[in-house]
Amino acid sequence: MKTMLKLLKRYWYFAILAAGFMIAEVYVDLYQPRMMEKIVNNGILGLDNNGVSDISLVVSVGIRMLIVVIAGGLCGILSGVFANVTGQNYGNDVRKTCFKRIMNFSFEQTDDFSTGSLITRITNDVSQVQQLVMQMIRGFVRCLMFFIGGTTALLSLDLSFGAIVACAFPLILIDVIFVVWKTNPLFTVLQESLDKLNGIIQENVAGVRVVKAFVQEKSESKKFDDANRHLVNTQFNVQMMMSFLRPVMNIVLNIAVVGIIYVGSVQVQQGSIAPGTVMAAVTYISQILNGMMMLAMIFQTLSRGLTSARRLGEVIDTEPDIKRLENASGKEGSYAKTGKEGKDAKTGKEGSYAKTGKEGKDTKTGGKNEDAYKAAGKAKGTVSFKDVSFVYADNGKEVLHDINLDIAGGETLAIIGSTGSGKSTLVNLIPRFYDVAQGSVKVDGVDVREYEPDELRDKVTMCLQKSELFSTTIIDNIAIGRPDATQEEISAAARAAQAEDFILEQPDGYDTAVAERGMSLSGGQRQRIAIARALLKRSEILIFDDSTSALDLKTEARLYEALNAGYSDVTKIIIAQRIASVKNADRIVVLDAGTIAAVGTHDALLKTSPVYRDIYDSQLKQEGEQS
Ligand SMILES: Nc1ncnc2c1ncn2[C@@H]1O[C@H](COP(=O)(O)OP(=O)(O)OP(=O)(O)O)[C@@H](O)[C@H]1O
Ligand SMILES: [Mg+2]
Repeated sequence: MKTMLKLLKRYWYFAILAAGFMIAEVYVDLYQPRMMEKIVNNGILGLDNNGVSDISLVVSVGIRMLIVVIAGGLCGILSGVFANVTGQNYGNDVRKTCFKRIMNFSFEQTDDFSTGSLITRITNDVSQVQQLVMQMIRGFVRCLMFFIGGTTALLSLDLSFGAIVACAFPLILIDVIFVVWKTNPLFTVLQESLDKLNGIIQENVAGVRVVKAFVQEKSESKKFDDANRHLVNTQFNVQMMMSFLRPVMNIVLNIAVVGIIYVGSVQVQQGSIAPGTVMAAVTYISQILNGMMMLAMIFQTLSRGLTSARRLGEVIDTEPDIKRLENASGKEGSYAKTGKEGKDAKTGKEGSYAKTGKEGKDTKTGGKNEDAYKAAGKAKGTVSFKDVSFVYADNGKEVLHDINLDIAGGETLAIIGSTGSGKSTLVNLIPRFYDVAQGSVKVDGVDVREYEPDELRDKVTMCLQKSELFSTTIIDNIAIGRPDATQEEISAAARAAQAEDFILEQPDGYDTAVAERGMSLSGGQRQRIAIARALLKRSEILIFDDSTSALDLKTEARLYEALNAGYSDVTKIIIAQRIASVKNADRIVVLDAGTIAAVGTHDALLKTSPVYRDIYDSQLKQEGEQS
């Protein structure tokens, strides 16, 4: 909420202008009955001229009235313009701030809010808050002015009219309070039903192919209907309450008008006031009570807007999980242990482990920060997992357990394991998409939690398991991580990713537009664009999470060749399901139910690791069956 108010403060001067012009407009509205009174009493009835009417006075006051009304109208327009400027700008700022915040959310936080709810918040809730701001500047000022100004003017006509206001006021107040009290809780429900509806729409529109493929249109439509009905019912209840408000107010208003006329006519008979004054009093009482009726509407906008503001505040004030940690676990201690870890590993390839061990020691002498690390001339791109375990907050299941692994700079490390064994989870810890539950993950000797998130993600690039493309051109899709890249660099990345051939075959080559989420390309083509995107970033560490699953073995082999030739200094972590994809890696990690079952080269693992042997045999068998 605090941030929401801070954003509003930026436009205070527009708000003041809008309110100022509103006050002027209402002032004119309140001034009119006075002129009317003069026209009737002095002009038509000629009360101060022995009953001789004065047409010239009628004309002159009439012209004055017209000018005042036009001026009032202009003030009204200006008030509207400034209120709009405030509301639109504020809404724009809130939307932008919200979007930026969402972009900085960890995966876990996005899961927590749910996509549907985030969409509702950034669209509908922002509109509600915009409405609220505009209503408050204009409507609220208007009501208040009508109420205070109208009552003062009415009482200045004749104090006896005050009794009627005093009677009508509590009746209307009770009515307003009742409706506000009844509708208020409904607004939270209303926004939540919108969340749900948006969630369903989003999932079904995005997944329309799956829905159709599994002939789920009926059941999905039913889900939608249920959510929609809930929304409609809630809206209906709100409207019911509101429709109750208006007639009650109208009755009170009309009784009050009758009251004024009655009190007025008695006094006219007694000769204490003039008929024109009674007319003015009738207008004032209508203005006062209409102002109060508007107040009820404003309360509706207020409670709805505040509900939305609270929901937006929840997003804006949520601190991103992924924040740089000061004084994270001491580097010295962990490094001392890195060397030992190498020896502890059961099936490691001697060579690489020896290498990792040595690096650990050097880093230690290299000092704390990365500059010192660079100064020591060390290979970059090392990753080390130390006693890592990981739990997904939403289901509390321990997905990774006691992971110890050191990856050397420039190494090609493959990870293989059955589906659900935790491969994606493991690599997600490196760019800090999630945080470890225990232990630590280090990149270039520094705990990932100690990096600024941007700095870390410059070092680590991940090619996700599901390649997401955006609805823009192929070239923009590739250059997303490096918008400044030259065409030559982009081509080189595409060539290495084995993507250039098919890109050039597209109607507009690199400038061919990609349909939403890449649907105009084949699965393998999408994957290769995603790989080119990752390669172009030229990070120290490249992670491919099952990114070659849709490539045929020949294309995949050519990709690996290109990686070895052009990206030899880059650390490559490759998750794959096929033995053929991993067997040429420097080392292969076999992951089994969240623990490292074995580490080694293909040949070594075939001899030492029963799990790897199993995978190998099963794939060999399949191939045999197929051929
Ligand atoms: N966001 C999440 N929230 C809760 N549990 C999750 C989440 N993502 C994955 N899991 C669970 O964690 C376990 C490991 O998942 P992970 O995605 O790491 O497996 P994987 O080895 O990459 O599998 P695959 O080969 O199918 O990609 C699975 O049991 C899965 O159900
Ligand atoms: Mg996975």
